[in-house]
Amino acid sequence: MTDHVTHVTHPLVQHKLTLMRQMTTSTAEFRQLLREISQLLAYEVTRDLNVTTRRISTPIQEMDAPVLDGRKLALVSILRAGNGLLDGMLDLIPSARVGFVGLYRDEETLEPVQYYFKVPDRLDERLVIAVDPMLATGNSSVAAIDLLKQAGATNIQFMCLLAAPEGIERMREAHPDVPIVTAAIDEKLNENGYIVPGLGDAGDRMFGTK
Ligand code: URA
Repeated sequence: MTDHVTHVTHPLVQHKLTLMRQMTTSTAEFRQLLREISQLLAYEVTRDLNVTTRRISTPIQEMDAPVLDGRKLALVSILRAGNGLLDGMLDLIPSARVGFVGLYRDEETLEPVQYYFKVPDRLDERLVIAVDPMLATGNSSVAAIDLLKQAGATNIQFMCLLAAPEGIERMREAHPDVPIVTAAIDEKLNENGYIVPGLGDAGDRMFGTK
């Protein structure tokens, strides 16, 4: 672990992650667990969110109370698996603006190919939280963050479920200014670019495809 990477070791996160890794876990359970973990990871990744104050009345007196400045946040899902993390985060921060980056991994070259890009305006004024459950080779995460920076983002965090050491290193080289929050750092990548021991293909497990 370095200051570039926050490994969330909370027992609830670790327990839910173990359930997700098990191949006997159903699609419905997997999706629900991902939603729950994303809320726990969101707690970590939103620590530095901008807070403003609002004048409110409690039953006792008036006060200036802290509230999130939701306009200053953009959640960006790296399609398609990122949507599993996005849903839980939106439960917690419903006012967040949302963007999507569509990248698929060419199964032979393992290189990312872009097919969709739509993000909120004024990215330069927002904390941008990019979400993708699997930081494997790091190729698609680096490409997605390249695109977000081209669109103006300067304050970006990356949230994932599992990270391979290779992906962390690739991100550190390409985007040392982007902190990573993850529930686990696994052993390695296999020859097909899958995280070992991992949990398989996150998108397939989430959506019941093969
Ligand atoms: N993407 C996945 O869904 N799983 C991996 O192990 C690697 C990349």
